[in-house]
Amino acid sequence: MASLETMFDVRGKSVIVTGGASGIGRAYAEILLQQGARVCIFDIDAEGLDRTVADLAEGAGQGGEIWGQQVDVGDRRAMAMAFDAVADRHGRIDTVFANAGIDPGPGFMTPDGERNPDGAIENIPDSQWDRGIEINLTSVYTTVKNAVRHMKPNGGGQIIVTSSIASQINESIVGTSYMPAKAAVNHFVRHMAMELGAFGIRVNAILPGPFITNIAGGRLRNKADRAAFERQSLIGRIGDVEDIKGLALLLASPAGAFFTGSLIVIDGGALTRMT
Ligand SMILES: NC(=O)c1ccc[n+]([C@@H]2O[C@H](COP(=O)([O-])OP(=O)(O)OC[C@H]3O[C@@H](n4cnc5c(N)ncnc54)[C@H](O)[C@@H]3O)[C@@H](O)[C@H]2O)c1
Repeated sequence: MASLETMFDVRGKSVIVTGGASGIGRAYAEILLQQGARVCIFDIDAEGLDRTVADLAEGAGQGGEIWGQQVDVGDRRAMAMAFDAVADRHGRIDTVFANAGIDPGPGFMTPDGERNPDGAIENIPDSQWDRGIEINLTSVYTTVKNAVRHMKPNGGGQIIVTSSIASQINESIVGTSYMPAKAAVNHFVRHMAMELGAFGIRVNAILPGPFITNIAGGRLRNKADRAAFERQSLIGRIGDVEDIKGLALLLASPAGAFFTGSLIVIDGGALTRMT
């Protein structure tokens, strides 16, 4: 029988986290690093990347390593090169978190329940829609494609995509393209699980509810903005990034070996209350 240690063993694994300089991605990187994985963060924010790598390095588990590459996940050429650089340095790629995402713009309602003309469908700049789809959906395709290119020859791997409960319910204060992008991400994850299971590659999605991070200008750090989301929770609070580490480790480790094509909600019960 497996011990607790072997069940959650990720020592020496080669891990990539996109959007790992902040929030949920940073928490993924931190827990894997603490458990002794070799982690490379991809992020568009050079300063945040340097800071996160320096901060997290102190907590590396035995054999663990962290470094970063400044990459825009919307840039396909840069993504291919960044994946190749990780494979060169680590010798392989085992686990990839497709996590980078953005709030594409204002929703059609404000948190105070007022109509927001800037978020009304007729006023959304096409460039805002396009960037929302590029980062929240197309970049997941690009990430999975590059991951698989490296995982197939090694006989397997794990891909973990950060979706959202906004894939299941419509949020009027979130930019309009976010909902269809995340809904499509879920369908894509299940499709990839079907295609890739035969190659030992597991593909799953984490669907967070509201978590305090820097997304949307860090508005969930603001007490007033947070109140509406706290009322949705069944346990009276919204998520702290610490809450997501256990699930990330589970999906990346042998303990998660039977998960694939799963869409795992982690939201303090918000979706249950709303549906
Ligand atoms: N925080 C929440 O409430 C919440 C809820 C559900 C889902 N999510 C999802 O979680 C994921 C992480 O978001 P977060 O809340 O931690 O936000 P965050 O803003 O704290 O972190 C996102 C990171 O992604 C990086 N990033 C943004 N665009 C990028 C690009 N083009 N290329 C590379 N890196 C880029 C940012 O620089 C940042 O470091 C996203 O996919 C988001 O949609 C968040």
